[in-house]
Amino acid sequence: MKRTLLLVALVFATAFSAFADKGMWLPSLIASRIDDMKAKGFKLDAEDIYSINQASLKDAVVLFDGGCTGEIVSEKGLLITNHHCGYDAIQALSSVEHDYLTDGFWAMSHKEELPCPGLKVHILVRMEEVTDRIAQGETVANIIAEAKKEGVGYMAEVEQMYYGNQAYLFVYREFSDVRLVAAPPTTIGKFGADNDNWIWPRHTGDFSIFRIYVDENNEPAAYNANNKPYTPARHFKVSTEGVKEGDFTMIYGFPGNTQEYITSDAVKYVAEKSDPTKIELRTQRLDIIGAAQNESAETRIKYAAKQANIANAWKKWQGEVKGINRLGTYSKKLDYEARFRQENPEKAYLLDSLETAYANNMEGYFNYELYNETLRGIELQQVVFLASDAAAIERFYKDFDVNVDRKLAVAMLTAYEELATAEATKLRALFEKHGGAEGYANWLYDNTKLGTLEGFKANDITTDPITEFAHAVIEIKSYVMQYAYRNLSNIPDIERWYRPYVKALMEWDKERAFFPDANLTLRVAYGKVAGYEYADGEYHLPQTTLEGIIAKDNPEIYDYNVPQALRDAYAKKDYGRWGIELNGKYTVPVCFIATNHTTGGNSGSPVINANGELIGVNFDRTWLSTMSDIEFDETLCRNIICDIRYVLFVVDKVGGAGWLIDEMGL
Ligand code: ARG
Ligand code: GLU
Repeated sequence: MKRTLLLVALVFATAFSAFADKGMWLPSLIASRIDDMKAKGFKLDAEDIYSINQASLKDAVVLFDGGCTGEIVSEKGLLITNHHCGYDAIQALSSVEHDYLTDGFWAMSHKEELPCPGLKVHILVRMEEVTDRIAQGETVANIIAEAKKEGVGYMAEVEQMYYGNQAYLFVYREFSDVRLVAAPPTTIGKFGADNDNWIWPRHTGDFSIFRIYVDENNEPAAYNANNKPYTPARHFKVSTEGVKEGDFTMIYGFPGNTQEYITSDAVKYVAEKSDPTKIELRTQRLDIIGAAQNESAETRIKYAAKQANIANAWKKWQGEVKGINRLGTYSKKLDYEARFRQENPEKAYLLDSLETAYANNMEGYFNYELYNETLRGIELQQVVFLASDAAAIERFYKDFDVNVDRKLAVAMLTAYEELATAEATKLRALFEKHGGAEGYANWLYDNTKLGTLEGFKANDITTDPITEFAHAVIEIKSYVMQYAYRNLSNIPDIERWYRPYVKALMEWDKERAFFPDANLTLRVAYGKVAGYEYADGEYHLPQTTLEGIIAKDNPEIYDYNVPQALRDAYAKKDYGRWGIELNGKYTVPVCFIATNHTTGGNSGSPVINANGELIGVNFDRTWLSTMSDIEFDETLCRNIICDIRYVLFVVDKVGGAGWLIDEMGL
């Protein structure tokens, strides 16, 4: 009896001393977490993750197209990211004759790989804390200029951590000859589209494959037909061993934005003002666009990417508000702040100053967000600024329908008229002249001659009423842009109080594991494969399979109409080496979930097992975890991963591109 008690106590003690699976850690400081990682199953050392003396896993991770992550999987620069991260590049290469979005694309040799003009990837060379150098008077510009001289194609950035308490230099190599190698059809890469977006269980094969090319010295170079595949310092070994509940997982990538340390005022702003307003405005836009898409196949295609973009954050914000309310984040922050005041009376003024700073800036920031969500959503004004760029004008009208834009203008100007408090002399005068926002919007679209490309070519834009409208919007823009920061809390007038506040928190709250908020710099997050209790009595398993795809398959519904090749493989159980026995069935694994702390930008991130091998590609979070940018809840927060075995299965059985699997050394 005593022994059992002792054992229970011991188990509790270890459970308590282990850290939560929360946080996004700087790779150069991962030594401070490595014991916890090893306790959770990781078998490698800190130097394997990040090293400046030897090749390490960081050499195989790329920042993809400035906002996603990707990973190198062969010694010939082969690179995997998400389908939705490669989407722009795939779309740009597509035409009616070669519709790579609908049909997919599979290069069968290096020669067939397609250059992607404008697409860049960055690989981190090294990172270094430069807080002291800056304190000693060195300028950021100088630090960057010096770092750039270190090598060919070098690029550098200095980023603030903990609201400017620390500064880090990040030195990257920039590669600009990146070619498309493979993309599955949209019905795999975007299977389930918006219905399934942010949802578990999930069955999306959200991957695409590229290759980095370099000059004969293995150095970054502009596109040249003679460039050769990049030989990386390190690439990921792919593991087809698979995963099971409880297995260690690590994510290595570029998370974009979290707000872990914001005060109650900022939480309240997000949950009660910002998100609800933006959701309502986007609901209106999506209703208008969706109705038009239902009426015409042409409009459906024209507005596909726009609609996906609007819908993605719209759905995320809804989950975020619900999550914040469910966790009681606002009142928890209030309690925390009360404790801080009580235990640090001499520093309570920091919270007072933050309160005042919020009171002084909230309205300005709200007007900035309103401008983004309403006025910027009215597209026709863009032609005023694109006018001299014939190619950009062609592209603009290719995906534009003036009847949709008129409806958007009526709705968004009406909303703006009601909600905005920013200086808008010109726009308000136009409203007044036409009996209000709605009257003005209708008059504007009745009288503009620029609704089509032909109209644009045949008419003088300077006298068109759209030009007058565009200038009225510029007046507003010049005012709101002073609030154009990543988050409300990053407005300098507010942020300057976070610097001493977060510093004080770190000195005071010794139990808390402080990670620097995500800011699109390279991070490590680790956790484990795990299901979760979705609702009372309803447990969601951590792995999905081909069975679920076939169950959702429906030729009548655009987003669920799977390629015939998948149906054939299923009918014949032709799974090759990718088939597994799971829950009594012979099937193919598709997606899984884990407890890694991730956010936007982590799309495409390598998901790594205990041995440092690639087991999947991160692409989403569950709807119940979207508040993790503000409060991470370990019991509920799950990131969604495309199982590497599904990637390989699709490459093999749908693409017939076995040469890529050989190249990965499998
Ligand atoms: N929710 C994922 C992310 O935040 C995937 C988005 C792409 N898919 C879409 N239907 N828009 O980026
Ligand atoms: N889909 C997101 C991205 O594009 C990742 C999902 C998330 O926000 O966690 O980065």
